[in-house]
Amino acid sequence: MTHAFNRPIRKAVFPVAGLGSRFLPATKAIAKEMLPVVDKPLIQYAVEEAAEAGITELIFVTGRTKRSIEDHFDKAYELETELEARGKHELLAAARSAVPPGVSCCYVRQSEALGLGHAVLCAEPIVGDEAFAVILADDLIDAQPGALKQMLAAARAHQASVLAVQNVPRDSTASYGIVSTQPLDDRNEQVVGIVEKPAPADAPSTLAVVGRYVLSPRIFEEIRRTPKGKGGEIQLTDAISAMLAHERVIAHRYIGQRYDCGAKLGYLMATVELGSRHPEVGEAFSAYLQQRQG
Ligand code: UTP
Repeated sequence: MTHAFNRPIRKAVFPVAGLGSRFLPATKAIAKEMLPVVDKPLIQYAVEEAAEAGITELIFVTGRTKRSIEDHFDKAYELETELEARGKHELLAAARSAVPPGVSCCYVRQSEALGLGHAVLCAEPIVGDEAFAVILADDLIDAQPGALKQMLAAARAHQASVLAVQNVPRDSTASYGIVSTQPLDDRNEQVVGIVEKPAPADAPSTLAVVGRYVLSPRIFEEIRRTPKGKGGEIQLTDAISAMLAHERVIAHRYIGQRYDCGAKLGYLMATVELGSRHPEVGEAFSAYLQQRQG
């Protein structure tokens, strides 16, 4: 039992130091989380989801492409002065809206891409002894309310760490952390085991962890003890598995649609879906898609 979930959760960690190799050459100089879906980078959708859930401290774990992320959430004096001088007020508001009001950003560097577990551990000095959220921005979740808000409610109700899960086809278990669970209530199950990227024949279920976590600070201790796992990386999944011996972990079936924007197909699907609902271009884009089909 942990007391970490008595207090409101205010901090979110955004690991953005991966190599993004599936999107090369687009990700040679920018982080994959800076790829735009219509007109906002993936990381901004994630930040807005966090702000909606009451998060006020954003901690970015950056890597070799750190400048693009820092610049995006920084004030752009020259751009703003120029837009103001030209009377382009709507564009000025768009440029200023990257950081939601009341939210602060800080950055920590992961000097080598040693894995997601290692990236999360890099945030420990800033997170401290508090429960916190982890958002992988390349999983874009279209949900109302946002997926993280749904998960924080589950963490409060069960006083435990929470993993976002969804069912996947058995032939794709090797792309995910897969949990085995016991039923709890409507949308929540208790995790009894978790394994990183099992082959379909070895997967204990088809319930896959997607890029949202609410974690107890105990996870840091477990990551420190975690040896390199799948792919020679320090895996967050392995640390969560070790934590199960000490604390309860909940698998939460969020309500919403997830797009795997770390892969080209998922990214294109998100673009079509959000593009056809976009306030400025949605109508014309939908008409174009229909005309193309006909
Ligand atoms: P992925 O497994 O998608 O890896 O990371 P990747 O390197 O970003 O992309 P590919 O597979 O080469 O195309 C999952 C998340 O963990 C972060 C990534 O930025 C992504 O959000 N990550 C991964 C780190 O921050 N550091 C790491 O060492 C590894």
